[in-house]
Amino acid sequence: PAKAVAAMSDQDPASLEELNAIIRRSEPLVPGATQAVLGEGPAHAAIAFVGEQPGDQEDRQGRPFVGPAGQLLSRAMADAGIERNAAYLTNAVKHFKFEERGKRRIHQKPTAGEVSHYRWWLDRELDFVAPKLVVALGATAVLALTGKAIPITRARGPAAFGKAYEGFITVHPSYLLRLPDEAKEDAYVAFVADLKRVGDLAR
Ligand code: URA
Repeated sequence: PAKAVAAMSDQDPASLEELNAIIRRSEPLVPGATQAVLGEGPAHAAIAFVGEQPGDQEDRQGRPFVGPAGQLLSRAMADAGIERNAAYLTNAVKHFKFEERGKRRIHQKPTAGEVSHYRWWLDRELDFVAPKLVVALGATAVLALTGKAIPITRARGPAAFGKAYEGFITVHPSYLLRLPDEAKEDAYVAFVADLKRVGDLAR
């Protein structure tokens, strides 16, 4: 991995397209993924959302946030008045990592080492997109954007990521999917309230 990182940072893409071509050609750090899942959305979008890593559906379709967590995110964005097509969506880690259980491919959380391996890409990507505001969805995105492991419960809300763009920390939509049914509604309402603040901050 150390060698791979050195080789990556030697590259000097001049545009988001060049960067994406490098990402597309690269091998997954952990073998298994079908393809790299690149960021999606208009360059210079006002808001960029950063998730963790592609899931099963994202890996198959080659697009970020198209599976169950992505659909929940889309619904919450719509409820908060944020147009999904106007936002940029990407992930801290660009390849799906999973464990096979029968026919199912169960998502495995990336390690801190994997997050730091992919961090150079994410940094460059956000430099090119140059959004007004970057939203970290969950702890892995926070680790990727700050280099620090910070509990979401403490850091939720506006944040500084040491860059030109403003930052905002909220939960990952898959956290909402995992909650017990009786806790889901309140957590969803709080998530939509966060996204409304995000919309206001990016205006
Ligand atoms: N979860 C993520 O973090 N990103 C995706 O693209 C899908 C699910």
